[in-house]
Amino acid sequence: MRIELEVWRQDGPDQRGRFAKYVVDDATPEMSLLELLDRLNDQLVAQGIEPVQFESDCREGVCGACGVTVDDRPHGPVPKTPSCRQHLRAFGEVSRLRIEPLRSAVFPVVRDLVVDRSALDRVIRAGGFVAVDAGTAPDADQLLVTHDDAELALDYAACIGCGACVAACPNGSAHLFAGSKLAHLALLPHGALERGRRARAMGKVLDAEFGPCSSYGECVEVCPAGIPLTGVAATHRERLRGFFRGKAD
Ligand code: SF4
Ligand code: FES
Repeated sequence: MRIELEVWRQDGPDQRGRFAKYVVDDATPEMSLLELLDRLNDQLVAQGIEPVQFESDCREGVCGACGVTVDDRPHGPVPKTPSCRQHLRAFGEVSRLRIEPLRSAVFPVVRDLVVDRSALDRVIRAGGFVAVDAGTAPDADQLLVTHDDAELALDYAACIGCGACVAACPNGSAHLFAGSKLAHLALLPHGALERGRRARAMGKVLDAEFGPCSSYGECVEVCPAGIPLTGVAATHRERLRGFFRGKAD
């Protein structure tokens, strides 16, 4: 199948970017978006043109490294699916695609489709350590966690840190991302000692580097992990709790 592509090309963080037009004549419905870009790059290399830079690692939807904007939608048209798992067969009758980086002021373009998402790392770094006894493995029933809490914690832990929520948010807020981390740790006894400090410290980075949350809900629409809006509520709740607890934890 023939796909006409408009792909964002930008030589560096301080360079002006522009869309370049390409055609891939031998795309197949089984191809993922990244495989389509691989195919395009094969062509470009054969023509002596610099290939399109983009990020990927696992290509299985678990690492969060991939992330491009397809026809104005972070990750692409298939809901709850990261860019690496977006397959052309799910796009319907497609003959034209516009691919650009995740767009957010807090994610400067490094080159082509690659953006600097280190602001998300700074949120995680601010969260710091979790107190666990690193000795021998404890008895399984020493720290009791209800089945429902364990399941919910795992649901929040599914966040892959891709940053699509930030790119989709008109405010550039990272509340869904931070809330998924805060919520999953708050549900488990491990790390309870640092719960308040963690929320206060991560909140400071959110305030300094990201926009505020106005509950638009665009974030959940593009989240490949299906983190619900309660993740955003968790950010507010944990920060409020951390504020009132003061230095108690
Ligand atoms: S909350 Fe969803 S969209 Fe945001 S970083 Fe995590 S997985 Fe990506
Ligand atoms: S490459 Fe790992 S989630 Fe897409």
